[in-house]
Amino acid sequence: MKVLLAGGAGYIGSHTAVEMLQAGHEVVIVDNYYNSSPEAVRRVEKITGKKIALYEADATDKAAMREIFTKEKIDAVVHFAGMKAVGESVAKPLMYYRNNLDTTLTLLEVMKETGCTKFIFSSSATVYGDPDSLPLYENAPKKACSNPYGWTKWMIEQILMDAAAADPELSVVLLRYFNPIGAHESGLIGEDPKGIPNNLMPFIAQVAVGRRDHLNVFGNDYPTPDGTCIRDYIHVVDLAKGHVCAAKYAESHKGCEIVNLGTGKGSSVLDMIEAFERVNGVKVPYEITGRRPGDIAVNYANADKAKELFGWTAEKTLDDMCRDTWKWQSQNPNGYAE
Ligand code: NAD
Ligand code: WQD
Repeated sequence: MKVLLAGGAGYIGSHTAVEMLQAGHEVVIVDNYYNSSPEAVRRVEKITGKKIALYEADATDKAAMREIFTKEKIDAVVHFAGMKAVGESVAKPLMYYRNNLDTTLTLLEVMKETGCTKFIFSSSATVYGDPDSLPLYENAPKKACSNPYGWTKWMIEQILMDAAAADPELSVVLLRYFNPIGAHESGLIGEDPKGIPNNLMPFIAQVAVGRRDHLNVFGNDYPTPDGTCIRDYIHVVDLAKGHVCAAKYAESHKGCEIVNLGTGKGSSVLDMIEAFERVNGVKVPYEITGRRPGDIAVNYANADKAKELFGWTAEKTLDDMCRDTWKWQSQNPNGYAE
């Protein structure tokens, strides 16, 4: 298949490009480098020894998208092209709604015009909100989100369900990611956040490499064994492989399917610090501070549906995630900037 990765120069997109190429697919990437660098794509080519058709373009630009779809004859789209910083989305909600919804609508419209019928979407476990019960199954109710970023995922899911209901030719797979971390085992690609990291693992890595002096642990008074929040951390390479499976599934599927991509196991913030220090032989100084508004105490997936539909399960361990994060961070202390 020829697969368009919208936002494919980013963290999850670049790892997915590697897995798609290694599975024998052709890859086209569209990215405006809002939160990424073309260097990531060059490194994907280095890892795989294969070429990528790379376009610098905004996925909200319909004329540009039309030209790319017509020229490249795209079979399937994986839509990563969104803004994802929770705090920023609270400060700039219109920018988030405009970008995340508009990229989705533009891609869907151009797909319709050009006869492309397979759409895989980067959704998030954030749409489950504060869970009534655990683990989280795909049929758990969608709850109110605590920020505009989460609402964009919530709304886009609804748009995609409606689009699939109206078009019998369309195959939509909504992939609800839990907490992707880690990096490719080569150390050539990884997560390169701009500015101060919002997420736990990049922050831990930057403390370990000396870019920041300590980690703030946001609360140790949650109803969990050690008092810190529990999440389902999943290796980005396992996550990337989930997209290859979803694309294969979409070949013979019509309608809209929701699939969790998680490991089914929860780890606390202190578990993550302990594992990172032990696996990598480094220190991660930390201080306990107040809770971060909007954080929920615990979430983790039930990942059975991905196994049933795709034959996919996460294979990598927490130690793999910590080791690969450190390899990427220590080899590229300033990310792609050098
Ligand atoms: P990322 O920021 O590294 O990648 C997103 C890419 O999209 C970037 O390369 C960015 O430049 C590009 N982009 C944004 N708007 C664009 C536009 N209008 N036109 C073209 N390109 C555009 O983020 P990521 O971590 O790789 O996440 C990929 C997707 O997965 C996002 O939609 C994100 O919301 C979703 N997601 C991420 C996580 C996570 O923890 N990383 C969890 C759940 C869902
Ligand atoms: C994990 C845990 C923090 C930073 C977010 C989005 C979600 C999804 C993934 C992205 C929490 C704690 C964190 C720090 C800390 N989307 N923490 N100190 O909040 O589960 O999910 O990213 O596109 O939509 O909400 O992930 O990595 O931010 O936090 O103690 O400096 O680490 O409180 O318990 P989260 P996270």
